[in-house]
Formats: sequence, C-alpha cells, structure tokens
Amino acid sequence: MPATILVGAHWGDEGKGRVVDEFAAKADVVARFGGGDNAGHTVYADGKVFKFHLLPSGVLHEQTACVLGNGMVINPVNLLKEIDSLASTGVDISPKRLLISTRAHIISPAHIALDKAAEKARGDKAIGTTLRGIGPAYLDKAARQGIRAGLMSDTEEFAEALHDAVERANHVLSQQNMELLDAHESAVTYIEAAERLKPYLCETSVYINQRLREGARVLCEGAQGTMLDVDHGDYPYVTSSSSIAGGALTGLGFGPLYVDRVIGIAKAFSSRVGAGPMPTELNDEIGDRLRGTGENFWDEFGTTTGRRRRCGWLDGVILHYAAQLNGFSELYLTKLDVLSGLKEVKIAVAYEIDGKRYDFPPTMISDLERAKPILETLPGWEEDVSGIRHEADLPAAARTYIQRIADLCETPVRTVSVGPARNQVVALA
Ligand code: GDP
Ligand code: IMO
Ligand code: MG
Repeated sequence: MPATILVGAHWGDEGKGRVVDEFAAKADVVARFGGGDNAGHTVYADGKVFKFHLLPSGVLHEQTACVLGNGMVINPVNLLKEIDSLASTGVDISPKRLLISTRAHIISPAHIALDKAAEKARGDKAIGTTLRGIGPAYLDKAARQGIRAGLMSDTEEFAEALHDAVERANHVLSQQNMELLDAHESAVTYIEAAERLKPYLCETSVYINQRLREGARVLCEGAQGTMLDVDHGDYPYVTSSSSIAGGALTGLGFGPLYVDRVIGIAKAFSSRVGAGPMPTELNDEIGDRLRGTGENFWDEFGTTTGRRRRCGWLDGVILHYAAQLNGFSELYLTKLDVLSGLKEVKIAVAYEIDGKRYDFPPTMISDLERAKPILETLPGWEEDVSGIRHEADLPAAARTYIQRIADLCETPVRTVSVGPARNQVVALA
C-alpha cells in the first residue's frame, strides 16, 4: 500500500473518520488534502468520542505522521484549540508528527464574516454553509489574494496580510449594512496562534514524496463527499474544494502512480446537511428513524454545527456516479446496524425527471430538484447486527442488500461497519 485514498461517496458524514482511524493503524502518514474545519470526523476509541475538524483522523495512532496538505484552508485559532484539547488527553501532537503545509491557505476572521454575509445575501437560496469561512478563503486563493500558511513564519507580514484582508472585508460588509470588523482586535488571537504554529510548517509535498519513495504507507483522508465537490457535486450547493479522489493529488502534491487503492465510504442510507436537492429524502417516520433522536453520538446531527441531518433511502444513482468519478477500487459501507428492524429497505436505482429516466445525476440543479427516485424494494431484516463480526453471520437479507449495492456501483463492498466502535466491523470476501 503506497498511497490509499479514502473519500466520501455521498454528501459527507459517511463515517470517514472511523474508517481512517481503522486504516491508520497500519499507515505511516495520514494526510488531509482538502477543506478545513467545515469537516467533522468522529472516532470512537477506548470508550471516548473524538471529533476532528482539522487534524487527520489517524492522529490517535502515534506511529503516524499527520499532514495538513496544501489543498486545505486552515483556521489557525481553531487548529490550536484542537491540538491543545487532544494534547490534554495525552496524545503527542508535537511538530515531530504534525506537519502543516506552507502552501495551505489561512482562514482569517474576514473570511468568516464574509461567509455569513454571503449566506445572508443569498436569502432563500442560502447554501447552508458551516459558516467557517471556507468559501471566501478558497475564493481569495483562486483570486490570488489569499494568505498562505507559510506567511505565519513572518509575524509582521502575517499581521499586515490579516489587516488588509479585514479592510477588504469591511468594504463588502459596509455595503451590506453588516457589523464591521475591528482589524486589530480580530487579528490578535490569529497572530498568537501563528506564533505557536510556526514550528509545524513544512513543505509537505516534498515530505510526502520522500516518504512515498522510501515505501511509506500514506493514507489520504477525504473530507466532505463526492456530491459536495465543487466541480462534480450538485453546484451551487457544494463546498469550494475538490473533495473527490483527484483532489488528493493536487491537495497533497504527488503523482497518481503511487495510488493503489481508492476506498469509497458510503453510508447504508443517505444523509445530507445544509440546502440542496436530495432525491431520496424522507420526511416521514422512516426518515426520523434513520436520523435517530440525537440521544446517541452517532445519530444524524452535525458533528461540526449540530444541525439535524436530512435522511433518506440509499441513493444508488449517486453512489454509481461516485464510483466512476473517484475510480473506487472498493466500497466500505457504514451504519448497516441502523437499518435493522425495517420491514423493507429501498435503493434509488435511477431518477425520473419529466417522464425521462436518468441513470446519473443531471448537471442542472433545476433538473435535479425535480428528480423523483425510482426505488427498488428489498426485504429488510429484524436482527440486531451490531454484534456480528463474520460475514456468514449477517442476515441473508442484509447480504442481499450489500450485494445489490455492489452490483449497482460495479464495485465490490469489502467491509461493512455495524456500530461506531473500532471492533464493530465485518470484512467481506
Ligand atoms: P465523517 O464526517 O464522514 O467522518 O462522519 P461523521 O463523523 O460526521 O458522522 C458519522 C457518524 O456515524 C459518527 O458519529 C460515527 O461515530 C458514526 N458511525 C460510523 N460508523 C458507524 C456504524 O457502523 N454504525 C453506527 N451506528 N454509527 C457509525
Ligand atoms: P465531513 O468531512 C457534511 C456542506 C455544508 C453546506 C455545504 C457548503 O464531516 O463529511 P461550506 O461550509 O463547506 O462552504 O458548506 O457543504 N458541508 C458538509 N456536509 N459533512 C461535511 O464534512 C461538510 N462540509 C461541508 O453543510 O451544505
Ligand atoms: Mg462529518
């Protein structure tokens, strides 16, 4: 395993954190390649729930080096909070094992204010962003006026860049009659954070290439999901980065020939948080049942924002699309346990839009908004599967469901998880 890429097959929250944690046990390097603290990745280990927003989810395995790649947008204040909180639990998070790309971009207070302003201006077309400043930070990057993490090593220049960014933001905020930022006040904590983060800065692409040449096993951790990808997702209801497998190469800076495994992480049903079309969404008791009440940490409430996630039947159209876009070598299906007790389970195998059948999501959002799922119904299973560890012990109906997913996506399902804990995993032949 030189490089393995793990990505979400739907709209995020597929359970990437738990899968990365599992694979990290056998990895040398775990690297995030895109997004920022819009991500919320949960790992349940040794009876504790960890939520990672910027740190790679493999960080609990102390043999791993953890990389925040050049494709990321990083809020230095929030990163430090995460580092400090994890360090307080006894995990080593020193610059020896955490490397921040000098080429990653910084999320400044200006970006956060602009994210809020843009959402407000969108009115009923709001995307429902995480309000972490993600879009404005990538916008500045593409406009070639962003602040790269490397600038943190020069406090004076960093402070000046923050100041300029706030001035630019205030210009926009004043046009929208929104509260202006105090350039000095909002920069202070950022400058303090930058001071502390200096030792972590590194040319991570050079580092990763060197490790790959030496034969190290590199795990690339996707954030968000295929349908939130800025090119291939359901634009404009997407994030602002490349969240598909291809993004790992640009977001970390190494070549495709190192990749020998691309794992698609899919949930056994669909969920989405924020606005945008979701053809299989269920606004009924089954939707509520899939979501859970919020009593359990694994129920469908946002890891980052606490928002209630929209839930529905598994969207096989999107899964098939994701399998192609990412070139999945295999699928990892999570949360199979949640389907136990349903009389029947359904999968969308195509859409119908204005009487026409679609096997792939259409480009235009107005078409996708009108898509009606063509659902295939399969028998459900009563048994609680959370204690199952061997394929042969899975109920026959669950095996049929898994096989149908594999057939639909033309991709083998190699693993299913049946609970959030590390050992609640069933390997499939
Ligand atoms: P991510 O963003 O893709 O890492 O996913 P999140 O962490 O935001 O959300 C997935 C949730 O499902 C987390 O609370 C996980 O602990 C939980 N989870 C993952 N796999 C399973 C599983 O097989 N069964 C159950 N019940 N929960 C799971
Ligand atoms: P993980 O890594 C689920 C969604 C937001 C919104 C849209 C744009 O935990 O799977 P942004 O703040 O990125 O500009 O928001 O994308 N979104 C996510 N949804 N999981 C995530 O991350 C997400 N990151 C962004 O809800 O609809
Ligand atoms: Mg999440």
